[in-house]
Amino acid sequence: MINSIKDLNDFSASFEPDLSVKIGSLTMTNPVGVASGILGYGEEYKELVQIDELGALYTKTVTLEPREGNPAPRLVETPMGLINSIGLANPGLECFLREKLPLLRSHCCAIIVNIAGSTEDEYAMLVDRIEEELTLSGPMSKTGVDAYEINISCPNVLKGGMTFGIDPIIVERLTGSLRRRTARPLIAKLSPNVTDITEIARAAEEGGADAISCINTVVGMVIDTDRMKPAIAKGLGGLSGPAIRPIGVAATYRVSHAVSIPVIGVGGITRAADAIQYLLAGAQAVQIGTALFSNPLAPQEILNGITEWMKKHGVLRVHDINSMLK
Ligand SMILES: Cc1cc2nc3c(=O)[nH]c(=O)nc-3n(C[C@H](O)[C@H](O)[C@H](O)COP(=O)(O)O)c2cc1C
Repeated sequence: MINSIKDLNDFSASFEPDLSVKIGSLTMTNPVGVASGILGYGEEYKELVQIDELGALYTKTVTLEPREGNPAPRLVETPMGLINSIGLANPGLECFLREKLPLLRSHCCAIIVNIAGSTEDEYAMLVDRIEEELTLSGPMSKTGVDAYEINISCPNVLKGGMTFGIDPIIVERLTGSLRRRTARPLIAKLSPNVTDITEIARAAEEGGADAISCINTVVGMVIDTDRMKPAIAKGLGGLSGPAIRPIGVAATYRVSHAVSIPVIGVGGITRAADAIQYLLAGAQAVQIGTALFSNPLAPQEILNGITEWMKKHGVLRVHDINSMLK
């Protein structure tokens, strides 16, 4: 029985909170992951980031064919944020399977493979080919693909990406089609650039998604007034970083009340208090993106901060934080 601050301090010192998180059939050791597009396929920043200490690594988006991405400049800083228009540059599925998957298998954290297609068929072909490869490789302790994150929210491509993620009918049909192709957990990554994000989240749940990642970047633009040109070659880009955190927290709050599957909060998390805002808003786990560019130690610091906060408040399990918002 905790009757005083002293009792609480004694209790806090004497227990280790349970940080594990369940997403469908997948159990992550802790709620802190690194967002798609930040660490490539685990090879970028590997000297700086303790990948094996993460709850999950979300890979750079994989597409069927290799993509060069958009022309440079494709990154510009803004106050409290970053605008990117990378355009899903990636080496394509076959190179991913040949060269990146073996490296991903060497990590003990959960590996979530982020996929995108320009048509619904392309998403299906990606999942079919990855599942085929995993079957051909035979039983192994680590397949390198613990779940899929379906990117239906990229604002920087002409076909697919966000154009799918703004239509609930397509989202339900696409998720349903992928559901029939794999038993691995499916996480739908949603765009905030919609009128009602809860409608899209419900469509993904209806289609059979196991979780929702909330949110991808917010469409933004910076204009260079000397050159009288957009700072990004493509004109518009996706805003990330602390500037979008309140948008991400609000989206997480709304979506977690609209669906019964777990929500993974992402957008502008730079320190533990930011991650805890997402957990209080209803997220079961979080992803860190832009913060790693200025502080590669952010995931570890954030995990330590969450643990300390749980001890301070006597919270036994990370998912209990969801019900603590007053
Ligand atoms: C440089 C960069 C590249 C990104 N690439 C991808 C990507 O390939 N696929 C994807 O789903 N999201 C991508 N994102 C979006 C992030 O995963 C994340 O949803 C977004 O940046 C918000 O989180 P943050 O504010 O912590 O960065 C990218 C973000 C950045 C900054």
